[in-house]
Amino acid sequence: MSGRLDGPVKVTGRAGYGADHNLPGMAHGHVVLSTIAHGEVRHVDTTAARRVPGVLGVYSPFNPLALRPVSTPMFGDTWVPLQDEEVAYYGQPIGLVVADTVEHARDAAMAVEVSYGERPARTSLAEGLADAEDEPPGPDGSSGFSVLEPGVGSIAEALAASPVVVEGTYSTATQNHAAMEPHSAVAVWDAGELTVYSGTQGADLQAVELAAALGVDPACVHAVNPFVGGAFGGKGRTSVAAFLAAAAARALDRPVKVVLSREQVFTATATRGATVQEVALGATEDGTLVAVRHDAWSATSADRAFVEPASSNTKEYYATRNLAVSQKVVPLNVPPTTFMRAPGEAPGSFALESAMDELAVALDMDPVELRLKNDSAAPLGSDLSWSSKHLDECCRLGAARFGWASRPPRGREDGDWLVGTGMATAMFPAMRFPATVRVTVRDDDTAEVATSGADPGTGLLTVLSVVTAESLDVPRSRITPLLGDSSFPPGGTSGASAGTASTGTAIMAAATRVIDDVLALAAGPGAPFEGLEVSYADGRVLTADRSMTFGEVLRATGRTELSADGSSAPGEELTKHSFSSFGAQFAEVRVHRWTREIRVSRLLGVFDAGRIVNPVAARGQLAGGMVWGVSAALHEGLDIEGNGRPANANLAGYLLPVNADVPAVDVVFVEHPDTLHNAVGARGIGELGVVGMAAAVANAVHHATGIRVRHIPITLADLLDR
Ligand code: MOS
Repeated sequence: MSGRLDGPVKVTGRAGYGADHNLPGMAHGHVVLSTIAHGEVRHVDTTAARRVPGVLGVYSPFNPLALRPVSTPMFGDTWVPLQDEEVAYYGQPIGLVVADTVEHARDAAMAVEVSYGERPARTSLAEGLADAEDEPPGPDGSSGFSVLEPGVGSIAEALAASPVVVEGTYSTATQNHAAMEPHSAVAVWDAGELTVYSGTQGADLQAVELAAALGVDPACVHAVNPFVGGAFGGKGRTSVAAFLAAAAARALDRPVKVVLSREQVFTATATRGATVQEVALGATEDGTLVAVRHDAWSATSADRAFVEPASSNTKEYYATRNLAVSQKVVPLNVPPTTFMRAPGEAPGSFALESAMDELAVALDMDPVELRLKNDSAAPLGSDLSWSSKHLDECCRLGAARFGWASRPPRGREDGDWLVGTGMATAMFPAMRFPATVRVTVRDDDTAEVATSGADPGTGLLTVLSVVTAESLDVPRSRITPLLGDSSFPPGGTSGASAGTASTGTAIMAAATRVIDDVLALAAGPGAPFEGLEVSYADGRVLTADRSMTFGEVLRATGRTELSADGSSAPGEELTKHSFSSFGAQFAEVRVHRWTREIRVSRLLGVFDAGRIVNPVAARGQLAGGMVWGVSAALHEGLDIEGNGRPANANLAGYLLPVNADVPAVDVVFVEHPDTLHNAVGARGIGELGVVGMAAAVANAVHHATGIRVRHIPITLADLLDR
């Protein structure tokens, strides 16, 4: 099987991203950001800005663009700029300058003079812990989650009664999605209809949000995003660039392009909030977990836009008789928080899987054996067992492939390098979102599959083609997949690792309908097979002794094409089973004895994610996630200064791994199709690869050096002799 259909146009630079569109008469907008972290905009002096040549408009809270608040079923409230004078973080969009060229817009934006009424800012998670709020109660009115066996009064009691206990406080850094394509948009109005070219995780969802913000009918908004240069959760909601470009284009009656600078992306979009987590594990001497406590504090922006759910997934990991998790919220004057690949699971697994390693050390037990010993058949507190779980196979296969059996109790030495290995469990819940696709068969025996959605680099475009070819029983070369246009049937979001399961199932439904229609046509009045028993295989309609391709049937009945829509949504399966993808992550690190430089030398992930529809793209998804886990462990962290300004809002200071930081990444699948989850049999893979990897690296660092670092990113300073 070949790789990704969009590969050639991307690597040759022919893929047109949102900001690649240049339209006649197009103006350029530059966003103005706040330079305080908390307070209000008192006055905006635009005199100097308006004197810059080519300036067409200067917008601020006092001269706003016509935009309204946005709330949708999918995302709840999405922040819309220029609604009021409040400033809640440093780098918040507070204005837009539009000019004839990029340079004029940028220069004029620099000339805008803003005065503020400043209030004290809270920017430190550590200092905010004391005033943490309880997480808003869930639908049942409760906050947190616990399971206690009969006769046990509290998790503290269960831990006190446990023969072996480990306890630690772990912390994780603020992260930015750092997608290659900065948030941007080109907006053009024509006779009251808006077209927006802007990278997003779902074209139809962006059209709905823009329509709400602009106060127009969603049918009047056309969102186009065939190529998206990375999203990772950071392009789920509509960007400030898109809201401002659309509103400015309407105000000025000409096309407007707005592109955030790399520095602006770090504050004017959103982040994964920092966390502090306490984990306590109690076990018997044979390694059976008896009690698990996981309390998390997550930094959020002042509007509490998104709370990183760091502890909530812990109930899905291991069998234990007693468990209590809690989640607290620490609102700060920091950039907005939002979804980032494996929201909750990524930082949560760093804490839990580090603690599991500490427990293995305390028990003098193999970390793989400890995971196998506590393998669970269902999430705690749920009667619904996993539809399909082969974590044990992942662990055993991974251990064999990684050479785990020969792992010494402590790391080994190789010249001046201390070499250690570590492992962790990965898991990510399998979900489906509502999605509709249209399958069209044509009289030349080709077919088209279309859905609005997005392929933000996940490989979804290729998956559409694979599943459609399979469902119509024709070669992939005859399928044209179309994606990323809100005029197509609503494909929903490419998020939550749900793309293949959602759209794949919808394709199967659409293909079944279109085949039924072709059969009805072939056997209908006046048709070649009138009144005969007909069936379908190999792209052909079959009778007892004859056959015709679907294209021949269409031609014979005077049609050029036939279409059917199919939909998928989470359904009855949710009442029968729990669904998750699983994996076992292995890492080897080399720490230099004298400089304490940390190099990752080997990575292996073995994953149980149901059927793998496109092995090449799937491997890319998992390897990318694993690299991100390494990045979280050793590189990434947005440093927010006391005044709220990010100190490293650029790709020089915000470290991301480069090729030299990443060894060959070994990705293996144990393929057990999960048709209890959906007809395709595929569970999610997009987020799974990042889960557990940071812990695997930290555990390997401990194995190599004997030093347990309970925060990420781990730096050399953490490994200096103490
Ligand atoms: Mo995501 S965090 O579902 O892109």
